[in-house]
Amino acid sequence: MSALTIFYALLFYAATGILIFGVAAKCWVYARTPQPLKIPTPPAPTTRRGVVLRMLLEVTLFRTLFRSNKWIWLFGWMFHVALLVVLLRHLRYFTEPVWAWVALIQPFGLYAGFALLAGLAGLWARRVLVDRVRYISSPSDHLMLALLAAIAASGLAMKYLTHTDIVALKAFFLGLMAFQWQPLPADPLLLAHLALVAGLMIVFPLSKLLHAPGVFFSPSLNQVDDARERRHVAGWSAQINHPARGG
Ligand code: HEM
Repeated sequence: MSALTIFYALLFYAATGILIFGVAAKCWVYARTPQPLKIPTPPAPTTRRGVVLRMLLEVTLFRTLFRSNKWIWLFGWMFHVALLVVLLRHLRYFTEPVWAWVALIQPFGLYAGFALLAGLAGLWARRVLVDRVRYISSPSDHLMLALLAAIAASGLAMKYLTHTDIVALKAFFLGLMAFQWQPLPADPLLLAHLALVAGLMIVFPLSKLLHAPGVFFSPSLNQVDDARERRHVAGWSAQINHPARGG
């Protein structure tokens, strides 16, 4: 077993652990953070079912972004949908036999690779060209865009410039999942693609990319507009109102 294979195997175990436990830990904190006030953004649904529908529209169509800025919506939505298709297309490297629907979306996955890059380019141009946005952009905003763009560019380069041994790559990842390691092909583009992906998995729980799970915990989106019908009591205020419970 080469040192390279061992390094990448350990890297992916570590990155997977950090991604899963990191995101779970953040969600744990989000879920326990008090929501002292009723602050759903109006017009807001008055029932739980309405909130579920609102959240669904928000995460699939980015409805509030659409209402506030059509350009950011266009590039942002294009990037996220393309990312979803690309990730689903990648499932073929981790499943044997490949599920029928994953085989079916393979051709779309390719267009999605280009759409992903185009979306990122639009979002990045905005951070550079719009004065107001450039002023509030931090290095990490640029870093995340660069990381995602580099992953997409190295992936597309593998597809169109120098191919890698997909069969051996798949054996490597299936082997990782079964704890029976197999050699990893040593093409520079593949190694770059994988190192960048591992980097993305590691920074995910520490970065702005947490907005993905975070949106579900946003009080302005997930609250029911029923303050006139029901008394809203946050956890900490319930304790203060009832000293006997130790508040
Ligand atoms: C461990 C995870 C990953 C593995 C093993 C992997 C592997 C690969 C391989 C082998 C290709 C070339 C496909 C071909 O020649 O037909 C590729 C392409 C690509 N990858 Fe990845 N990749 C991973 C994660 C990601 C992630 C997280 C992203 C996006 C953020 C990404 C974006 C792309 C893109 C845009 C392409 C080009 C279009 C395509 O073939 O789908 N990859 N990847």
